[in-house]
Amino acid sequence: MAERLQVVWLGTRLAIRAGGWRVGVIALCSLSLALQPSANALALKLVTDGALAGDWTRAGIGVGTLAAMIAVMFSAYGISVPLQTTVSERAARLFEQDVMRLVTSIPTVEPHERPDFADRLEVLRSNSRLLVGALWTALSNVSFFVGAASALSLLAGADPALLLLPLFGIPLFVTSARAERLRDGAIGRTAEASRTSTHLFRVATTPQFGKEIRIFRLRDEIVSRFHRVSEETNRELFAADLRAALLAAGAWLLFTSAWAGGIVLVAARAVRGEATPGDVVLAIAVAGLVQGYVSGAVGLVRELTQTLAMASRYVWLVEFARGKRTGTGTPPARLTRGIELDRVSFRYPGTDDEVLHDLSVRLPAGATVGIVGDNGAGKTTAIKLLLGLYQPSSGRITVDGVDLADLDTHRWQRSLAGAFQDFARFEFTLGESVGVGDLDRCDEDGAVRAALTRAGSTITLPLSEQLGRAWDGAELSGGQWQQLAVARGMMREQPLLLVLDEPTASLDPDAEHALFERFREATRRGTEGSGAITLLVSHRFSTVRMADLILVFDQGRIVEHGSHQELLALGGVYAELFELQARAYR
Ligand SMILES: Nc1ncnc2c1ncn2[C@@H]1O[C@H](COP(=O)(O)OP(=O)(O)OP(=O)(O)O)[C@@H](O)[C@H]1O
Ligand SMILES: [Mg+2]
Repeated sequence: MAERLQVVWLGTRLAIRAGGWRVGVIALCSLSLALQPSANALALKLVTDGALAGDWTRAGIGVGTLAAMIAVMFSAYGISVPLQTTVSERAARLFEQDVMRLVTSIPTVEPHERPDFADRLEVLRSNSRLLVGALWTALSNVSFFVGAASALSLLAGADPALLLLPLFGIPLFVTSARAERLRDGAIGRTAEASRTSTHLFRVATTPQFGKEIRIFRLRDEIVSRFHRVSEETNRELFAADLRAALLAAGAWLLFTSAWAGGIVLVAARAVRGEATPGDVVLAIAVAGLVQGYVSGAVGLVRELTQTLAMASRYVWLVEFARGKRTGTGTPPARLTRGIELDRVSFRYPGTDDEVLHDLSVRLPAGATVGIVGDNGAGKTTAIKLLLGLYQPSSGRITVDGVDLADLDTHRWQRSLAGAFQDFARFEFTLGESVGVGDLDRCDEDGAVRAALTRAGSTITLPLSEQLGRAWDGAELSGGQWQQLAVARGMMREQPLLLVLDEPTASLDPDAEHALFERFREATRRGTEGSGAITLLVSHRFSTVRMADLILVFDQGRIVEHGSHQELLALGGVYAELFELQARAYR
């Protein structure tokens, strides 16, 4: 019950945020609609008995009431239906914003690795209208009880035995709630399949996949996979619906028999002269109403069950996001000691294999640190931990001696900057796509241009140019998108940690070298005394050699570390690979 109230409360708040006074008007309309059927039935009795007795005043009042009720019905529907639609639409958008905010408020990206998280989000996204539905449901509940109470009092007047009629509706409620649970179960079980079909649709229809779909002739394969998962989803849903329909049919049969029995009862009384013809008309009309109310109530139960299932996913998301709060400490304004990894090991959530083993190293304040290692050696993973996107499975990372886990992750992330291997392509204007790297200065053209220059951009478009063909904007080359990502990483003026995880793979070695040279100079000059650390990952030794400290990763371990000279003198993996690359370029 408490959960139901919470859901109705959530829906109400959302609806009022979205609709304001309109919600009051909708409530008034549904109440007046609620009284209308009973008033109609009563009017019918007045007309019948009045006409048969030749009492034209009574009949006239009956006809007047009927006409008035028709007017009330049309105007109440006419007003409330469009209002409900607009309020629901707006509330659905507000709700989606809440979900977006909640998801992005989670400091780590770990939830994105969890299929159950993705499944719940998919259901939330595709049912965003339901929560406000909870309010409409609650409103119809209230109006429903008002209407049903008035109908029952009329029934009692015709024959008290008819009051038993609603009892025959109970199996209908029970089966309807069961049917909804069946359906919700099916939706939950097919969420993954439905995500798959969304993904496959995107694969077939977005330009990002277009080239490879054609070159590798994947069209039929993608379409048939889409067909298979959709069929699977449909089969599951259809089976649930079928079982639900069978249950409902049985329950309805019972209720309809009771209904027919009730009418026969009143008709028999009229034959015996114990009731007027008007009473029979009233009984038929009201018993019809009861049928309407029962099926209405069944609909309400169904909707409420649906909404509850949906809302429980939302409540889950709220709690999940809340549970992911991290420490509260403030990161230092400047680094004095540096960042230390102390026996850090890591496995990705939901996987068995450890991908980082027992890393211990100090990244001194003010240093440029290079990371090299084979594909899959754990370079990016180590960086994700430093960025607070994941927490170590064991061991700890300290920032000037303070455990990263004790720092407020959002604030820590605000003091970082970077460009990444799997960078994002923001299809905004050129200026915004770079400017979002420091939102406060997003509109400062000077800052954006400086960042582009530092990133060695070759793009000649104006900053106001819209990007992305889907928006009728300009398309960039792969390397140019990468330049934007690097420029975005250059927007924050004094980050404590600047990370460059192979954002330059599209550049030739000389250009990459020059770019890193510029960074190093810029960070040295701009952050004099702030102790900022620059981390750069590259497969090119010609670039990495300029770093103050080089970490050599191999299969999740740091196997060598030191300066370029030290590592050469060591004569290990680094020296060997450096020689190999140097020879290739000679
Ligand atoms: N999200 C993830 N979930 C599970 N395992 C992952 C995930 N991302 C990476 N891995 C695994 O972690 C290991 C290290 O990957 P990582 O991306 O850190 O390598 P890398 O050194 O950056 O390689 P590259 O040079 O190719 O970028 C790999 O074995 C990879 O399969
Ligand atoms: Mg990587």
